[in-house]
Amino acid sequence: MPGRCLITTPIYYVNDVPHIGHAYTTVTADALARWHRLVGDEVFFLTGTDEHGLKVARSAEAKDVTPQVHVDEVSRRFAETWDLLDVVPDRFIRTTDPDHAVSVQAFLQKVYDNGYIYKSSYAGWYCVACEAYYGEDDLIADPHDPGEPARWCPIHQRPVEWFEEDNWFFRLSAFEQPLLDWYEANPGAVAPETKRNEAVGLIRQGLRDISITRTSIDWGVPVPWDDGHVFYVWYDALINYATAIGYGTDQERFEAWWPHVRHLIGKDILRFHCVYWPAMLMAAGEAPPANIDVHGFLLVGGEKMSKTRLNQIFPADLVADFGVDGFRHHFLRDTAFGPDGDFSYEAMVARYNSDLANNFGNLMSRVATVVAKKCDGVGPAPRPDSPLASVAAEVVADATQAWEQVQPSAALDATWRLIREANALLESTEPWKAEPGPEVDGVLGDALEVLRLVAILASPALTRSCVEVWRRIGLEGSPTDKPLAEVAAWGGYPGGLAVEKSDPIFPRIKAAR
Ligand code: MSP
Repeated sequence: MPGRCLITTPIYYVNDVPHIGHAYTTVTADALARWHRLVGDEVFFLTGTDEHGLKVARSAEAKDVTPQVHVDEVSRRFAETWDLLDVVPDRFIRTTDPDHAVSVQAFLQKVYDNGYIYKSSYAGWYCVACEAYYGEDDLIADPHDPGEPARWCPIHQRPVEWFEEDNWFFRLSAFEQPLLDWYEANPGAVAPETKRNEAVGLIRQGLRDISITRTSIDWGVPVPWDDGHVFYVWYDALINYATAIGYGTDQERFEAWWPHVRHLIGKDILRFHCVYWPAMLMAAGEAPPANIDVHGFLLVGGEKMSKTRLNQIFPADLVADFGVDGFRHHFLRDTAFGPDGDFSYEAMVARYNSDLANNFGNLMSRVATVVAKKCDGVGPAPRPDSPLASVAAEVVADATQAWEQVQPSAALDATWRLIREANALLESTEPWKAEPGPEVDGVLGDALEVLRLVAILASPALTRSCVEVWRRIGLEGSPTDKPLAEVAAWGGYPGGLAVEKSDPIFPRIKAAR
């Protein structure tokens, strides 16, 4: 049954330029959106930038520019990076977009009208990098001065600051039981299960009301019922998911999409998405999100990437060496969605060479070469009783299930099984040594059919090469023109088409840098 699906990434802070960690979530979301479109779902794919808050205001000040100039510049770098990586969102939202302020105000006004927002004063330890207050117990000690009281942020490992403000509070404590009930009734809403359990654990520890406004800055969305206050950056940011589908500006559209959403997030922002956001939605009278899929960190040399550790890797550098498809394939295939993964350049070369150059690329080259030699360049039709037919059916089913479960790595692994089996068939039958005839035609027809199917199944990952393979085997249009169900059955390659023999699609990468 075709469905409707809003697929989202976190909106990224503009204090950092895009690195492979941001790209990991975003390419995964883009591939997932492409998969859902392939199966015929109506998809709205959303990404963007999170541009308000103290951290941004301070960075702009340090650069001696206005916050708007600063956010325009960094936001553009995110948009350009996604463009480079063939990431095509339906909307690139910016929290400085005018319709976003309308949605934030409408949403939080609703929460206020429903009685879940009240005024009080607040004092606490604040991490400007997280834009979050921390309780004493959450803080860690300065590693250079372990004897002193713990006053460091556990995430950013840098000092927190003492803040005192009069602000508006969200009555999060009222949602402890409703959230637990929701988790109980929707066991699959947050995946993987370990992350669901972590969220439930946070709720069970007890929820304190949270401050959702600031008076210390004006770089934010104004609180509609109290001049001089702006919403705290997180409660502005989370609402982007509602803005994009019309909350407060086109209510009919919002209702058509919400809550058919799949939020993809890193584990660092689990508390905001799996505790605060569902509670805010409940407070506004809306359903919590249907799906939140949490992934681990991409580590470099065993450590999280950060500006201060100087271990950030930028997508453009890898695209220069591996191409767009090499980049996308690596991050989708190498790290399972859920646990942490380690990035290394050597592993990227190895995977590129084995999956792309030696398997997919080699299948294409071999088939084109032998078709040129033995069939005058005209691709034969596959055999209905091919030994690969049942493999293909299993692969389509396995890949479908894996994409549905947001496991691109498993989906691509399943897809590559078909490539491996086709290469094995060619190696065991050696059509390049045989006389032209029905035997050779059958094997080559089967291999061409595998190329057709792989071009469809891998299209969410390899946005360019699948189109190229499709063209080289003589097919019209593109692999994504028809819904999967219409083209997934064995035998779709018609035969009688000109097959093009040309340069390797994935030239081998020889040396490590
Ligand atoms: N602005 C908030 C999110 C608001 S969403 C309403 C934010 N921004 S962020 O720029 O810090 O982005 C965090 C997200 O970037 C992570 O949740 C993850 O999706 C991605 N990643 C950033 N670094 C990463 C790794 N090293 N590894 C994997 N993903 C990482 O938090």
